[in-house]
Amino acid sequence: MQVCVIGTGYVGLVTGVCLAQIGHQVICVDNDAQKVKLMQSGQSPIFEPGLAQMMAANMEAGRLEFTADLRVGVERGEILFIAVGTPALPSGASDTRYVEAVARGIGQHLNGGYKVIVNKSTVPIGSGDWVRRIVLDGVAEGNSEHTNFDVVSNPEFLREGSAIYDTFNPDRIVIGSSSERAIDLMQQLYAPIVTRQFAQYPDLPPVPVLVTDLTSAETIKYAANAFLATKISFINEVSNICDRVGADVTLVAQGIGLDTRIGHKFLQAGIGWGGSCFPKDVSALVHTATDYGYDAQLLKSTIETNRQQRLIAVEKLQQVLKILKGKTIGLLGLTFKPDTDDLRDAPALDLIDRLTHLGAKVKAFDPLISSARSHPDLTKITLTTNAEDLAMGCDALVLITEWQEFQLLDYTHLASLMERPTIVDGRNYLDAVALTNAGFDYIGIGRPRVDLVESVLPNRLTQIDDLPLKSAA
Ligand code: UDX
Repeated sequence: MQVCVIGTGYVGLVTGVCLAQIGHQVICVDNDAQKVKLMQSGQSPIFEPGLAQMMAANMEAGRLEFTADLRVGVERGEILFIAVGTPALPSGASDTRYVEAVARGIGQHLNGGYKVIVNKSTVPIGSGDWVRRIVLDGVAEGNSEHTNFDVVSNPEFLREGSAIYDTFNPDRIVIGSSSERAIDLMQQLYAPIVTRQFAQYPDLPPVPVLVTDLTSAETIKYAANAFLATKISFINEVSNICDRVGADVTLVAQGIGLDTRIGHKFLQAGIGWGGSCFPKDVSALVHTATDYGYDAQLLKSTIETNRQQRLIAVEKLQQVLKILKGKTIGLLGLTFKPDTDDLRDAPALDLIDRLTHLGAKVKAFDPLISSARSHPDLTKITLTTNAEDLAMGCDALVLITEWQEFQLLDYTHLASLMERPTIVDGRNYLDAVALTNAGFDYIGIGRPRVDLVESVLPNRLTQIDDLPLKSAA
């Protein structure tokens, strides 16, 4: 099928490359001419594992092209994806001006054939009808009479760092539309994915396809992200209770996660959620609720719990170091999660803000963030290029991002470079006992200190051993 993807940000580029990979003819449009040039030369403007290679292979095979000319893309595509950004406005509402500009542009360039216009951007609930009207405005401005199109909502559920895997192994595909013709075309488009031709486990049953009305599909996207963010805020709140009562949140998460009604995913306590989706989408859902006269109190608490959780490491540092003024704190990682170079709404930024406000000096090492990176918050800190330079002269380290390479560091050596080695593991990612043996005062999130665990564990095991065996009768 002929596909046009408008907007080559994270979602657009991954969608375009993956649709080419499953055999479609794809043209990606972006109004940033320099970015288009870069992509035409075979380079990916974003970091996503496997993306650059897949992009190059599909360009080579003649299935993937890039252009800055919207007209060319619209004329060629039978299915037109709108995948431009909808950043949050200060009020929490989504800024839809880029979607509006693209919808108008599509209308201006519509030619004869039937087109499906797909909203891939996370647009406010109710945007499907609005997009339709804007496209029609564009048609009128272009003095044409081509109105042979339908609008579809097709939300994405991709995680950064595993976007390609998620595209080929989705839990579900959601298609929101009232047009049978559009739904049919969307089902044809995704058939190779639905039948798991590109999946890691091709023998699994086909991917469920949920067909809904436009508004329900738009709401599914927000509700999914709000639910996941709430799940994390919930376990973070439990971790704070664990800290006070002496329980271990990692065991509590295992214990509740084994209940299939709860499930074990997204129950990792830490320094909170961030990124390009959760913060923006939960705020937008609260905002939509308010617009309709409803006070979404649970979602507001989800956001507030996360705001506090992002500073939990400061509290823990203060408990050990007392006054932070003049102390040097080293951050292991900066990005909002591993396998991405994305700093959007990263918890690290709030932490840097608070630590520097309290007079601490902040250093950081992140495998994908270099000092060349111009981010206003990073001007306040010193970036190092390895963990040794980071640890040198630090009063404490804080693990921010669970980069795999951080598990392989020589912590005994790092401890030797520090005055009084302390580490706050903001993701409960490191081996507490190994770090303690390496000389660190290890502080997790919602976990008892290692010395306490060791004094409790043998007793607990003895008690289990001593239990009288129940007779078979
Ligand atoms: C998310 C959704 O997962 C995806 O479906 C949606 O389309 C876009 O938003 P992403 O932002 O890439 O994807 O990251 P995700 O892996 O979901 O993590 C989001 C944040 O939650 C990260 O900051 C992560 O560190 C945090 N998190 C995640 C936790 O703190 N604990 C967990 O158990 C899981």
